[in-house]
Amino acid sequence: MIEIKGLGKAFGERCILKDISVDIKEGELFSVIGPSGTGKSTFIKCIIRLLRPDAGSIMVDGQEIATTGSEFQLAKVRRKFGYLFQEGALFDSLTVMENVAFGLKYLTDLPKSDYPRIVKEKLALVGLEDVEHLKPSELSVGMKKRVSLARSIAAEPKYILYDEPTTGLDPVTTGMVKDLITDMRAKLGVTSVVVTHDLKLALEISSRVAMLYEGAFVEVGEPAKFRQSENKEVREFMEISDLSRK
Ligand SMILES: Nc1ncnc2c1ncn2[C@@H]1O[C@H](COP(=O)(O)OP(=O)(O)OP(=O)(O)O)[C@@H](O)[C@H]1O
Ligand SMILES: [Mg+2]
Repeated sequence: MIEIKGLGKAFGERCILKDISVDIKEGELFSVIGPSGTGKSTFIKCIIRLLRPDAGSIMVDGQEIATTGSEFQLAKVRRKFGYLFQEGALFDSLTVMENVAFGLKYLTDLPKSDYPRIVKEKLALVGLEDVEHLKPSELSVGMKKRVSLARSIAAEPKYILYDEPTTGLDPVTTGMVKDLITDMRAKLGVTSVVVTHDLKLALEISSRVAMLYEGAFVEVGEPAKFRQSENKEVREFMEISDLSRK
């Protein structure tokens, strides 16, 4: 379980996250939506301490990681997470095989001889085959995204943080990624946090949706409740996403 209390993060004078509190329970698929630049990536980065919050508490399975914790403790907590970077963040000089297998060495005790099988399995899950020998520069944007996704699920982590998992993908691949995210939850019991500006996606796959606006969650609720929100920001976001009540 991830328990967040009073989370705050500023960059210089600019306060991006003001006071965020939420408990993300085991097996949940929690989505954070909001317009570009509201701090969605910042939020998700704080959860694994890629960014150090200025205020508040983040407990992962009872371990405080927001502002305290030794490198050793942080490393232990980070091992529980898979992370899909918004930018993909593949290593350009490594092949797809090496990229997807990258975390296995640190995150699992599996023998190296198992890596090719696992990599192929995960690539198949995201609809890719026979690309293991290619370098990222030889892949399309959508393929890179899918390779990144395969890498983030490779070690079958307890928690997965997805930053814009479907941005830049065609409708068919978007559907595939959507199924993958829901399957990871249904079949492996993964707890997921999805950050996206795709409200339609969030409402379809999530157990709860939160809207981030001006540094705070202005609405948090199950999709059915979220759709009925009277919050002005939520209503506007529904309208621009063409999901408003007709
Ligand atoms: N390392 C950083 N240093 C300074 N400012 C930053 C840093 N990271 C993010 N910001 C600023 O914080 C704000 C929120 O950024 P963030 O990337 O979290 O937004 P976002 O909601 O993920 O946006 P998008 O939907 O475009 O991905 C932006 O104004 C951004 O410029
Ligand atoms: Mg972002």
